[in-house]
Amino acid sequence: MQDKEPLPSFAAVVVAAGKGLRAGQPLPKQFAQWRGKSVLRHSVETFLRAGACPVVIAVPENGEKAALDALDGLHGFTLVTGGDTRQDSVLRALQAIESADRVLIHDAARPDLPPEVIQRLLAALDNAVGAIPVLAVVDSLSIDSDGMMAGAAQRDVLRRVQTPQAFRYRDILKAHKAWQGERNAGDDAQVLYAAGGDVAHVPGDDRLVKLTFAEDFMSQSPCTVRTGMGF
Ligand code: CTP
Ligand code: MG
Repeated sequence: MQDKEPLPSFAAVVVAAGKGLRAGQPLPKQFAQWRGKSVLRHSVETFLRAGACPVVIAVPENGEKAALDALDGLHGFTLVTGGDTRQDSVLRALQAIESADRVLIHDAARPDLPPEVIQRLLAALDNAVGAIPVLAVVDSLSIDSDGMMAGAAQRDVLRRVQTPQAFRYRDILKAHKAWQGERNAGDDAQVLYAAGGDVAHVPGDDRLVKLTFAEDFMSQSPCTVRTGMGF
């Protein structure tokens, strides 16, 4: 952390219990290698360095060994078994936290987590029940109707929403418990909205991309030159 101000205490939930079907990796994508370590390890290390306590990680049923291998040598995290949907996994992880004032909920599939996003979210929580990182939509948008353009969508009111998302622990736990389970929530802010809560927006970060498809694992290294070719 660059800021001299200490961060307020916070818990972290990392959801890593998905199957990663679209990524088509030999292992669920959160356990695949990305830029020299497992996808999961990247954000867990960032949370531990930022002082998150506890760090609760939802893993697939029978996924404990893969998670422990991925996190080998790290200390200060707890594993729980996730559920059939992302929101089930979040709820199980939230319920494993004994007490916390603030909690950040994060997709393991977004390994590159800039610490300054954590700082922004925690600062925003001083005046809000929830805070989420968002990015503007820069491309123009059209509505698809059988491959034909059936109208343009208004992009200036739309935002791309990322994780981690920050909440007052008690409020998000209550909202998740009240969630009527069949619908896919998409993210935790939706769960809070459904319970009547609202969230503040903070600037997101392009690095927080969610690894989703096989091609996301193909170009992994930042650009490099052959040894001896640089000055
Ligand atoms: N996740 C989870 N429990 C589930 C489903 C998803 O913890 N039952 C987690 C994933 O591990 C991931 C995050 O939620 O870190 C975002 O989900 P997504 O990108 O959709 O991952 P998967 O569901 O694993 O991938 P896919 O949809 O391609 O199968
Ligand atoms: Mg999924």
